[in-house]
Amino acid sequence: MSEDLNGKVALVTGGSRGIGEGIARHLSTLGAHVALTARTMEAAESVAASIREDGGAATAVTLDVSDPASVESCVATVLEDHERIDILVNNAGITRDNLLLRMKPDDWEAVISTNLDGTYRMCRAVVPKMVRAKAGRIVNITSVVGTLGNPGQANYAATKAGIEAFSRSLARELGSRNITVNCVAPGFIDTDMTRALDAKQRDALLSQVPLGRLGSPQDVADAVAFLVGSGATYVTGITLHVNGGMHM
Ligand SMILES: NC(=O)c1ccc[n+]([C@@H]2O[C@H](COP(=O)([O-])OP(=O)(O)OC[C@H]3O[C@@H](n4cnc5c(N)ncnc54)[C@H](OP(=O)(O)O)[C@@H]3O)[C@@H](O)[C@H]2O)c1
Repeated sequence: MSEDLNGKVALVTGGSRGIGEGIARHLSTLGAHVALTARTMEAAESVAASIREDGGAATAVTLDVSDPASVESCVATVLEDHERIDILVNNAGITRDNLLLRMKPDDWEAVISTNLDGTYRMCRAVVPKMVRAKAGRIVNITSVVGTLGNPGQANYAATKAGIEAFSRSLARELGSRNITVNCVAPGFIDTDMTRALDAKQRDALLSQVPLGRLGSPQDVADAVAFLVGSGATYVTGITLHVNGGMHM
């Protein structure tokens, strides 16, 4: 087992399933103590307990990134427990798909508030501690859709493109403090989010993927591990695409 992240504390949002769970599990195998979140303690604790059973170090914290008070309380809890946050992975995200002509204000606002505002809120809460520590790694999970666009996902695509521009700006602001800020943009990954697609939609998507398969949470976790590990000390402001070649 590599111990690249030994002694580091990683806060992973949306760690209860899918990509976030994969990232939390992988960072723990690299030696990090992972604080992973979900909106209910039950959902977060079930993954944290399983990581501990596998020999990793993990704690569960409740978090709703669309609620500023919840963000403050989550970050305060992690800092009380560990006194530091070395790595922040903003993974929590939702979709509320519809064509623009049918997209209700609630569908727009929920996705903006969770994906884009949530990433801002988490960074705003964690960055002061990283600045004082003169070190930190932030990875924001975006999507290939933020680059390509996708009919029915104008709200979601706007948040992901917005997070990438936000990240490049933060990378410029925080580089002098030894804090790197990068994005990982998955293509179509096999999680609850894509299991909602019907067989026809899945086949249509797969036909656009040169590697001929959906990605796995581990594929995304490997990219995150690179960006937070010792091999990426001089990498900031990038978006690392993990999409089997569907966008190149
Ligand atoms: N799957 C894909 O193909 C794909 C492709 C590109 C990008 N992505 C991005 O990757 C990330 C993870 O996607 P996924 O497929 O793993 O999704 P998922 O299986 O639906 O899991 C979403 C995670 O986000 C959490 N979450 C949802 N709303 C939240 C909120 N308001 N506050 C805090 N946590 C919240 C959920 O926790 P609860 O237990 O509280 O529900 C869950 O842990 C998202 O940012 C998504 O946009 C996914």
